[in-house]
Amino acid sequence: MRITFTPTTQYRNYQPRFTSNNCFYLSEQQNPIGTVSRMFREDLAWHKLALYEYANFHNTPKVQTLQFACSDGSESYTQAISLLETPGMSNEKFFPIQAMDINDNILDVAKSGLINFSKDDITRMKNMGLDINKYFEKTNDQISLRKLFPVAVTDIDFDTYKIKPTLKDKINFQKADMFEVLKNHKDESNTLVLCRNVLGYYSPLERTKFLNLLAEKLKPNSMVVIGSMEVSEKVDTELLYRNFAMLTQNIFRKIR
Ligand SMILES: C[S@@+](CC[C@H](N)C(=O)[O-])C[C@H]1O[C@@H](n2cnc3c(N)ncnc32)[C@H](O)[C@@H]1O
Repeated sequence: MRITFTPTTQYRNYQPRFTSNNCFYLSEQQNPIGTVSRMFREDLAWHKLALYEYANFHNTPKVQTLQFACSDGSESYTQAISLLETPGMSNEKFFPIQAMDINDNILDVAKSGLINFSKDDITRMKNMGLDINKYFEKTNDQISLRKLFPVAVTDIDFDTYKIKPTLKDKINFQKADMFEVLKNHKDESNTLVLCRNVLGYYSPLERTKFLNLLAEKLKPNSMVVIGSMEVSEKVDTELLYRNFAMLTQNIFRKIR
């Protein structure tokens, strides 16, 4: 299938805005919307994250993975595949990943069991040597969304894939506000928070509130993973001020 696409922004009055310029989905009126989220997003060394997860939680019986702002699920599948593809490691304690987003539309995509891959997604995964067919199966089914605002589209190819049960079973998608979840979270030094490419949509005051919550709720040994948007908003430095140490780019561990 071929539809046209122009990078643009999805506007919603009551929710933070997010840009749309990678994969896209169709509304019931056949209006496309998109998300910049994508498989193996390049601002994180995903294989390193898996290794740090295994090393850091070596003696931890159960890990609570809170994946905030999961969007269409690209990031959830990426993290799960990274754990599953690390040889010789027992991965069950990391699953299910609790993947959350505040936006009903994009969550409908995540919950659909389907995903749209652009040609870039496919190339990126093939270049990594990943056997795509192990986790995904090409389908003619289409993902439709409810209650959408239209955006313009030009020239993008995508294919729809069904997520195979071995991967789908590793993730729980739910609607949740990351501020609320964190406020109520009980950490046992076994939490991994992914909060990537979302804090930039919030005001400095709201970002500080979120960072203070992270520092208050997470105990030593728990981890936080951020994205390039957070780095451009200096969230990395702010984490250092709050007793997190950087393990490697965009991956932090609470130390005190
Ligand atoms: C640009 S996408 C980032 C997706 C993904 N984390 C990535 O890095 O590719 C931002 C997502 O954050 C979600 N979001 C915004 N505020 C949120 C909140 N308070 N709680 C949970 N999700 C939120 C939006 O709905 C959107 O799907």
